[in-house]
Amino acid sequence: MNQPAPTSNKTPADKPFEEAAQTLLAQMSLREKIGQMSGDTPRLRGMIKMAYAYNVRPYPAGENRRLGIPPLLFTDGPRGVVVSQATCFPVSMARGATWDIDLEEKVGDAIGVEARTLGANFFAGVCINVLRHPAWGRAQETYGEDPYHLGEMGAALVRGSQRHVMACVKHYAANSIENSRMKVDVELDQRTLREVYLPHFKRCVDEGIASIMSAYNQVNGAYCGHNQPLLRQILKKEWGFDGFVISDFVWGIRDTAAAAIAGCDLEMPFTQHYGKRLEAAVKSGTVSERTIDDAVLRILRQKIRFAPVGQPERYKPAIVAGESHRALAREVAQKAIVLLKNEPLAPDQAAPLPLDLGEIKQLALIGPLADWPNLGDNGSSRVRPPSVVTPLEGIRAAAGAVAVQHYDGADPTPAAQLAAQTDVAIVVVGLTHADEGERIEYPWGSTGGDRDSLTLAPEDETLIHAVAAANPRTIVVLMGGSAIITEAWRHEAPAILMAWYPGLEGGHALADILFGSVNPSAKLPIIFPKSAAQLPFFDKNVPKITYDRYHGYRFLERAGEEPAFPFGFGLSYTTFNYSELQVEPATISPSGAVEASVTITNSGSRAGEEVAQLYIGYPNSAVDRPEKELKGFVRVKLLPGENKRIHFSLPAGQLAYYDPDVEGWVVETVEYALYVGSSSANRDLLAAGFRITIENEGGVGG
Ligand code: GLC
Repeated sequence: MNQPAPTSNKTPADKPFEEAAQTLLAQMSLREKIGQMSGDTPRLRGMIKMAYAYNVRPYPAGENRRLGIPPLLFTDGPRGVVVSQATCFPVSMARGATWDIDLEEKVGDAIGVEARTLGANFFAGVCINVLRHPAWGRAQETYGEDPYHLGEMGAALVRGSQRHVMACVKHYAANSIENSRMKVDVELDQRTLREVYLPHFKRCVDEGIASIMSAYNQVNGAYCGHNQPLLRQILKKEWGFDGFVISDFVWGIRDTAAAAIAGCDLEMPFTQHYGKRLEAAVKSGTVSERTIDDAVLRILRQKIRFAPVGQPERYKPAIVAGESHRALAREVAQKAIVLLKNEPLAPDQAAPLPLDLGEIKQLALIGPLADWPNLGDNGSSRVRPPSVVTPLEGIRAAAGAVAVQHYDGADPTPAAQLAAQTDVAIVVVGLTHADEGERIEYPWGSTGGDRDSLTLAPEDETLIHAVAAANPRTIVVLMGGSAIITEAWRHEAPAILMAWYPGLEGGHALADILFGSVNPSAKLPIIFPKSAAQLPFFDKNVPKITYDRYHGYRFLERAGEEPAFPFGFGLSYTTFNYSELQVEPATISPSGAVEASVTITNSGSRAGEEVAQLYIGYPNSAVDRPEKELKGFVRVKLLPGENKRIHFSLPAGQLAYYDPDVEGWVVETVEYALYVGSSSANRDLLAAGFRITIENEGGVGG
């Protein structure tokens, strides 16, 4: 018999700052209240400036000088502060490949410091949309495909950034097609919505996020900015969210009353549907003043909560893109670059990486991205650092006496000739903002959008073929924000790295990995498929689409398909062995927790870091569930020969599925499979099992 899942053990947060907010509210006229609910930028000036100077200064909202209420001062974005010049960190997808929540918290702290130093107090950079399909134009802005992984990485960014500013998580919800984002209606049943497209948002609400940005798209027939089930029912009522909802910019709200009644509290970046129109709606009785009061209290509560927050002694101009933040960006890139392949050319030969600077004399660096500041897309998340280290600069700085010959690879013939004359050939190819990114429509055209193809450009594949044929020690470095299909050439290259958009220190970090001063530890936060045929349906222009619970590794496993590179996969210059998996107790109650422990040994010859992953399978479930789902991960450092026993504690409540018939979460009292290992691939996992049973049945522990 199924048991209702234990309700969240979080006591309902009392409403701090309530009294102060109520006191302010009581002094406000209706017009002043509504003034809190829109951006302060005049619409026409705002539209003009958005075209040529997007977010170069923070967007203000809700200033009230009579009452001394400061404005919210908005800055994007996921890879750093968009205002002015700032540190451009590796994109979120790259940071997702670190699986390092402590490091992500440090990134949040650094971005929060830079935001305050540059005059902002609101950071809209916690982007955690599920990467349902690698063609999504804004894949780089999120952390990956898995809700648990997204939630943990997003919550870490919230923790770090909210030491300094209000943070905003986006885009709520099911925003995963770029070209049709302004119109697409995403249909999801309740299980799909709650089990796949919402858990990571709830994780950030539970972390205390100040604000949530509703998405442009529709969910089940209603624009997210007007979506009562999403905003009022789930977010504010069921989850107890006491922050505020902001609209996405300009087109995030389309109807005054519908948005206000549904729970969109703040229209950004300027007044279009709120302001006088909202005042008229209140006066006509279409919108109650109670609705306005709720929205304004939410905004005031967070402004009051964050008024004393911060470390002003750190907000000095020299900190912005200064030495410490550049060093942090370099560390993130080092931990984000995924070693996908590193195979010896012959059984008796060493693997091509790391390169031994004492052994090679000549190195060819070839490709259009070898000496180009490839930071990611030019949409709202664009960060403008004072300088960028390209792969060529980073490799030359680290190569010592090794001669580094550079060619942009425009013509494969001279590229092959150069490769033939050198000890090692490195090809740097991939995506840029011309291939993927936020779709911005201008009167004269558009930029960004979803990808039409998941492979490299034909000329890039031709270049790889030519160089690999000329030099067997060819290393391919890929750049981009999402999966790239490598089938046409990956068997010709003995070594492949995915460097993503690695930020302003990416060139140094790439050299650190190539020459071995850093041992790669990154793991893919998404699958790399062998072909687009392995993936769910995707149409960038579709006006309506139905999502189910399957995409990424869940989708391929259900189809019995092997990707080119699995979710959670990444190699190291050392080797790690997993042994002695234990799960205790063997039986737990629906309110209990199971403890898994495993020994990891560094069986190689150099120190390294491993990301151990915990997955759960539901072989006996009475309902349809995936083969397995990620439910835990931890990074562990190990010296050569060292072993450590690592532990996971997993509450039964995290294994619940959502039952729409009871409108609640259900923990099944059945057998479960538990897996721990180095990737989601079954060959990389140790397996065990445990059972959840009703409390007073024999032998229940935990
Ligand atoms: C954009 C994006 C959103 C961004 C906002 C402000 O359209 O969808 O991610 O935060 O507008 O730039």
